[in-house]
Amino acid sequence: MVVETDVLVVGTGPAGAAAALALATYGVEHIVVTKYRWTANTPRAHITNQRTVEIFRDLGIEDEVIAQGTPNELMGDTVFCTSLVGEEIGRVRTWGTHPSRHAEYTLASPSRHCDLPQTLLEPIVVGAAASRGSRIRFDTEYLGFVQDDDGVTASVRDRITGAEYTIRAKYLIGADGARSTVAADAGLPFTGEMDVAGSMNIVFDADLSGLVAHRPSILYWVLQPGSDIGGIGMGVVRAVKPWTQWLAIWGYDIAAPPPEMNDEAATKIVHDLLGDDSVPVTIRGYSLWGNNKCYATSYRSGRVFCAGDAVHRHPPSNGLGSNTSIQDSYNLAWKLALVLRGAAGESLLDSYEAERTPIGEQIVLRANKSIEEFGPIFEALGLTSTDDPDLMERHMAARFDDTTEAAAQREALRKALELKNYEFNAHGVEMNHRYRSGAVVPDGTEEPAFDRDPELHHHPTTWPGARLPHCWLGRDGHRVSTHDLAGKGRFALFTGISGQRWAVAAEQVATDLGIELVAHVIGPGREHTDLYDDWARVREVAEDGCVLVRPDTHVAWRAHDLADDPAAALTDVLRRVLHR
Ligand code: FDA
Repeated sequence: MVVETDVLVVGTGPAGAAAALALATYGVEHIVVTKYRWTANTPRAHITNQRTVEIFRDLGIEDEVIAQGTPNELMGDTVFCTSLVGEEIGRVRTWGTHPSRHAEYTLASPSRHCDLPQTLLEPIVVGAAASRGSRIRFDTEYLGFVQDDDGVTASVRDRITGAEYTIRAKYLIGADGARSTVAADAGLPFTGEMDVAGSMNIVFDADLSGLVAHRPSILYWVLQPGSDIGGIGMGVVRAVKPWTQWLAIWGYDIAAPPPEMNDEAATKIVHDLLGDDSVPVTIRGYSLWGNNKCYATSYRSGRVFCAGDAVHRHPPSNGLGSNTSIQDSYNLAWKLALVLRGAAGESLLDSYEAERTPIGEQIVLRANKSIEEFGPIFEALGLTSTDDPDLMERHMAARFDDTTEAAAQREALRKALELKNYEFNAHGVEMNHRYRSGAVVPDGTEEPAFDRDPELHHHPTTWPGARLPHCWLGRDGHRVSTHDLAGKGRFALFTGISGQRWAVAAEQVATDLGIELVAHVIGPGREHTDLYDDWARVREVAEDGCVLVRPDTHVAWRAHDLADDPAAALTDVLRRVLHR
């Protein structure tokens, strides 16, 4: 049996589900196969950053994501302690909840961070995709592919009946996670190592409201000297469903045989992390996973593209995995839609890898560096100079003293905790993506320099390739984001009243090129007003200039002022972006 489709997606994790939702939204015929009977069965990813929520806003599921997630204001008091009932070592305000950072985050996007476990996220995305036309086949395992000039022939197995069949697609997206067979079959080149450390997840029910009410947070980091035999024991207690369902993360030696897990051993680890073995705990499950430091240097082989953990594999630090996976698919889907519709040349697809591989590399290195940056905390607490747990305890307690050494130790700890902003408040890492590829047309200006730390701070710009800056505009007195006027699978053009010839030209050019391009003239008496004059502040072009935005809300090109022949200028630029 051969089934035909335009795109075959393998996987319904964040990458595959987002690909399915975007393709369904853009009206692309596709099939999704996924190995298991349903979506993720463990609540791994949870931090859902502004850029991702913004994408969900564009794809029409932001409200549901926010409704099911833990809100931003409850995410933020990240605690470092010796156990949940034990001594508090320090606290960092995270995910933009510090008042001094809050404004930056609020100004950056119409959307806010939220915390949504993968077990809740995937059904929302997969459900929306299916309701819009995705044909999703659960219990169906990808086995392999061959490709030719016209398409990809993949073999799959129905895991219920054991029957194997063939799916013929014009393109294949491998979103099959960190052990991706599609990436291996495609021969994608990788740099780095897999399984550099081992961790176990224990999901448990316990009412911990009394222990966390005074410092509600999604993450509690627990340092227990000596508890992991000859080293610094560090674990995480993470809220899954505040404040009654939790995930404990604990390390194990990946070089040794995998630890034997049972409810009793899991309960002991949980009780140790809580510091109170009288708390009633119900273990829901446990699983082992490896920390990786590995990324693909190419995301494509012919008609096969890989996205998500299939091409970037790293620890959960910074909460970037699922977010980046979703953003990969969002980048790829509109390009596939336009190529399949005949509105763009096939070489537009080259821009996927050109744009996303630098981000994959960046996040793998960032997440691993964030792990290393626990080192200064351990050093400040005197945990690295000895293996003796009693001595470690004494070193930690030394900082209570009124001595010069203790004052230095306190200062070192303060600095070490400040460094964790690069993990928990790395707004720039999340939002400063600036693409360089054949799907962006330079405007002849230099890339704007970052005037603050580019990892910590977002720098909005309309420089071609950057994400469209958000600001609130007015419509009938109501606020709408610049992002609400872009996206939706269409190109968008922003200009002012003295640039309305751009808008007239845009209509003509859209018809000529057979693409969707919606033009917005911002100004008094127009459908959209510059409510707070913020657009005038962020647009970086004159009122009669224009900013042309791609369907993924990244800037394709901008003109600083009105061109002599706006239609000719737009046609030229769009032909270049679309590779026609
Ligand atoms: P993912 O692994 O999720 O999905 C792969 C899919 O492919 C599955 O649907 C599977 O069934 C399918 N599949 C595999 N092989 C197949 C085959 N042969 N045939 C058919 N289907 C196949 N990230 C983040 O952004 N924020 C966070 O807070 C965290 N936190 C976090 C905590 C912990 C403890 C872990 C372990 C991980 C995180 N992450 C995270 C990372 C996040 O979980 C990870 O990056 C994403 O799940 C990756 O999504 P993918 O869709 O790429 O793969």
